[in-house]
Amino acid sequence: MSDRVLIKGARLYGEGEPVDVLVSNGIIAEIGSPAVSGDTEVVEAGGQVLLPGFVDLHTHLREPGREDAETVESGSAAAALGGYTAVFAMANTDPVADNSVVVEHVWRRGREAGLVDVHPVGAVTVGLKGEQLAELGTMAKSAANVRIFSDDGHCVDDPLIMRRALEYSTALGVVIAQHAEEPRLTVGAQANEGERASRLGYAGWPASAEESIVARDCLLAQHAGARLHVCHVSTAGTADVLSWAKDRGTRVSAEVTPHHLLLTDDRLETYDPVNKVNPPLRTGGDAARLRAALAEGVIDCVATDHAPHPVQDKDCEWAVAKPGMLGLQTALSVVAETMVRTGLLDWRGVARVMSERPAEIAGLPDHGRPLETGEPANLVLVDPDAEWTVRGAELASIAANTPYEGMRLPGVVTLTLLRGRITAREGKIG
Ligand code: DOR
Ligand code: ZN
Repeated sequence: MSDRVLIKGARLYGEGEPVDVLVSNGIIAEIGSPAVSGDTEVVEAGGQVLLPGFVDLHTHLREPGREDAETVESGSAAAALGGYTAVFAMANTDPVADNSVVVEHVWRRGREAGLVDVHPVGAVTVGLKGEQLAELGTMAKSAANVRIFSDDGHCVDDPLIMRRALEYSTALGVVIAQHAEEPRLTVGAQANEGERASRLGYAGWPASAEESIVARDCLLAQHAGARLHVCHVSTAGTADVLSWAKDRGTRVSAEVTPHHLLLTDDRLETYDPVNKVNPPLRTGGDAARLRAALAEGVIDCVATDHAPHPVQDKDCEWAVAKPGMLGLQTALSVVAETMVRTGLLDWRGVARVMSERPAEIAGLPDHGRPLETGEPANLVLVDPDAEWTVRGAELASIAANTPYEGMRLPGVVTLTLLRGRITAREGKIG
């Protein structure tokens, strides 16, 4: 394959007239009407939207331990097909990524797959138990160069441990990403606390369990002079807390998942555990507020919380089903549906929330960069007018637990480039 790619007739950020973009030696070599030599691969973009490659701060790749749900390789394929050029792999694997051996293993597996930059997230506490800080410094200085630490799946609920983690993170220049869930308020919780959950007989997961931890952590971060990242914001009240904290200068960033932007607890009526996720699907009012907060920048970015589970863990009784849903290959389309079609974001805004801000939060120098000559060619081409029908069995993940089964969604990723190399094209790898 040629190492030169000419993308003909793309609209940068969906703006202005189509231009030709020449990619060579891993960078954007020329924008305008570059001369083409013989060994250049030509991609006819036909006016499609060119954006910086997406960056996902929150992905579960399940390796090591649950390779029956996903592997670094299969998850990397899903990421490339979804338009991603970098993903952060959560630490709740088996064994837990709480030491340099595991994070280096995940990092190496990502390099071998070679489809997307896989950055392991390190656990904040040993075994995700919330009792003893993991060796953050050793993981940060390992070959995996860990930049984000999270006990995701669990909340670092002990305020003293959270305070210490924030203090260390400042010295190391890394970020603590919190799964905000006060565990004393969610014992046995199955669904958003409210009238619907009560009627259906599900124990409730109250909004206050999230909001109280986010408020506490914003105060802890401010006192420590540390940065905090809030995972999967799910309630309107959390948006209020973030807005307040940002106004008073707290260094806090936050993500929202595609499913919390689109889906609501109406889905509980189906009794289908494909809709079970943590934090749970909330009300229509929450979803509307999350969309507005993302558009305004109160919530910084979109992160998938891609959570593959094998069929035996999802196709069972609601109470015993594992929480989580696939997200990598549907994220762009759900953002197109909820944010672009509604006029809340234009494509430049999509670049901000799916690429630029997540790259900044994680401190990635080569992703989320401007579409300019000399910049790294981590790129995605999106057909904004095309639609597709989601079929879980056709997605690249090993598991198939998509909540969008059979839905028609707008926005199709037609090309992904990692450092100038084609990683996905027209729904196929490479
Ligand atoms: O729904 C979820 N699934 N939420 C989490 O916090 C963890 C994740 C998982 O690992 O399956
Ligand atoms: Zn989580």
